[in-house]
Amino acid sequence: MRPYVFVNVAASIDGKISDESRRQLRISCEEDMKRVDKLRAEVDAIMVGIGTILSDDPKLNVKSEELRKKRVLEGKKENPIKVVVDSKCRIPENAKVFDGETIVAVSKLAEKERLERIAKKAEVVIFGEERVDLKSLLVYLYEKGIKKLMVEGGGTLISSLLRERLVDEMFIYFAPMIIGGERSPTICDGKSFDEHIRFEIFGVERLGEGVLVHLKAQEAP
Ligand SMILES: NC(=O)c1ccc[n+]([C@@H]2O[C@H](COP(=O)([O-])OP(=O)(O)OC[C@H]3O[C@@H](n4cnc5c(N)ncnc54)[C@H](OP(=O)(O)O)[C@@H]3O)[C@@H](O)[C@H]2O)c1
Repeated sequence: MRPYVFVNVAASIDGKISDESRRQLRISCEEDMKRVDKLRAEVDAIMVGIGTILSDDPKLNVKSEELRKKRVLEGKKENPIKVVVDSKCRIPENAKVFDGETIVAVSKLAEKERLERIAKKAEVVIFGEERVDLKSLLVYLYEKGIKKLMVEGGGTLISSLLRERLVDEMFIYFAPMIIGGERSPTICDGKSFDEHIRFEIFGVERLGEGVLVHLKAQEAP
């Protein structure tokens, strides 16, 4: 068994989630940020790849005090658990994501000394020989009580999750802008798939200045 997994990203109309600098860009609008905050408040954990931590240094907490209080009233922690996928344990000790409960998933490639340092900040779990074995990690998270998982990027992690058919839903907010750049990160980077992964459109909604597309995964043929 694994958690229910959904991806949420903000992209330009040309599918880029940042530009060639890979810095965090303001792609979504106020209305979208509120929607994302609500999604965060509903999940047990939020997952990102180490590329996103190194580029954006996000906290990944619920911003609205009201939503945090609601979680507490429901017997949950103020914020979901944060999960970082980081084979070599490259995460800096002062990463903002350590504000709260964090799990750093590494592979056997990670140096012992780094693991020991990060273990003082977060739970460190080892899955996989080179890259993090995402299937085993998800099983572990499920057994820990994480039933609903939100993935907030980036494109490399999303690509691996899609390849392994581990994504149930996607929310893509498209802002009416073109970022361009062949090396700009996209919604799904990495190698192209031999078998294209198909989704069903569950909803399309005009939100703020952009469009929110809600997709549900189709069974593999
Ligand atoms: N607009 C948005 O909504 C949004 C959201 C998030 C991020 N972003 C942008 O996305 C960019 C970062 O994306 P990214 O693609 O560079 O990084 P990423 O997807 O956040 O992280 C990818 C890294 O995770 C590690 N990893 C470990 N095991 C893995 C596995 N099984 N599959 C895939 N990755 C695995 C790899 O590094 P190791 O081998 O070192 O472990 C890999 O390079 C930034 O520019 C950021 O601003 C945009």
